[in-house]
Amino acid sequence: MHILVTGGAGFIGSHVVRHFLKAHPDCTITNLDSLTYAGNLANLSDVEQNPRYRFIKGDITDAPFLVKLFEESRFDGVIHLAAESHVDRSIANPTEFVITNVLGTVNLLNAARAAWKSSFEGKRFYHISTDEVYGSLGKDGLFTEETPYDPHSPYSASKASSDHFVRAYHDTFGLPVVISNCSNNYGSYQFPEKLIPLFINNICRKRPLPVYGKGENIRDWLWVVDHAQAIDVIFHRGKTGETYNIGGHNEWTNIDLILLLCRIMNEKLGRQPGESEALITYVTDRAGHDLRYAIDSSKLQRELGWVPSISFEKGLELTVDWYLGNHEWLNNVTSGSYQHYYDRMYGGRQE
Ligand code: NAD
Ligand code: DAU
Repeated sequence: MHILVTGGAGFIGSHVVRHFLKAHPDCTITNLDSLTYAGNLANLSDVEQNPRYRFIKGDITDAPFLVKLFEESRFDGVIHLAAESHVDRSIANPTEFVITNVLGTVNLLNAARAAWKSSFEGKRFYHISTDEVYGSLGKDGLFTEETPYDPHSPYSASKASSDHFVRAYHDTFGLPVVISNCSNNYGSYQFPEKLIPLFINNICRKRPLPVYGKGENIRDWLWVVDHAQAIDVIFHRGKTGETYNIGGHNEWTNIDLILLLCRIMNEKLGRQPGESEALITYVTDRAGHDLRYAIDSSKLQRELGWVPSISFEKGLELTVDWYLGNHEWLNNVTSGSYQHYYDRMYGGRQE
């Protein structure tokens, strides 16, 4: 099987590429990525020599390029992860999210539809989406596949829109699609603008830990390796036209998570209890900040037998160990343009 993975140089995409190459010796992977600030070929340095892997630098917003690529490459399946993925950046620059996440997805749907027009038999277009499309929960309840869409940030609105287009191509043209909506991922190779790697980096450097609002927002955290495994199961055995929710059954308030992270980091860095905690700084809340996300992934468990493999405490410790063992990776991605973003984002945001 020849699979096109978009966004394979990013955080989740790099784990998906690595997982598929290892788990499926019969598959060939083409990784299409435009290498934005979030894309990094170092994330896949361990597989770049694999004869079943090739990287193509290209942009999903370039429709003629995609049509040509599909004509030349004869893909059997697409796993579409390429996106602008950070909520704070979407608040600063919404249009970029519409262009990449909505237009880019429609371009890919068009290219797949054109290339597969003689027969959709054996083909699959898998769109990777987020639980943020469902909006925000109160204290109770879980997002199911039937929860109505109610996005609040430009990021989640763009992902919701792309999900609707994917379903529309199934319903209108019969394109064999499948969609999954996943909760917050954590693990190695995540760009340090997202909560966990940002805070690991800041604790290492003894920089303030900018907690939005009161730190009471709740997220449902899933180890990225478990997400890659779920993607494998859904890609191969999910029902065409269906949606699957993926989550960790693992809800944490931001502040409790940060306190756990501080404790782990104090131990790993040989610091006194309370030393990292002293870096916690409450800052202005994120605009439109969703209070709580929590996923009901019982459909995925019931129909395809997937469950997360490790506890959060274990996964978080593995993640901390990875960042502490990969200072060079962290230094490379936190230099240059990222520094400008950081100054723009957090300069003057303290309270
Ligand atoms: P990421 O930001 O780490 O990676 C995105 C990748 O897409 C990068 O390699 C980037 O270079 C590439 N890309 C961006 N614009 C592109 C374009 N125009 N053309 C080609 N490539 C482009 O993101 P991530 O956290 O790995 O998320 C991957 C996907 O999973 C996204 O669709 C995101 O919405 C979804 N998702 C993420 C999470 C999470 O917790 N990170 C949870 C659920 C769903
Ligand atoms: O739920 C899935 C989504 O999870 C994905 O679709 C997104 O791509 C991914 O970025 C993530 O979105 P969040 O906004 O939940 O993740 P983030 O790491 O940005 O923030 C997690 C929580 O921590 C959130 O409540 C905001 C808070 N936060 C974040 C940052 C970066 C802070 O308090 N301080 C910070 O500096």
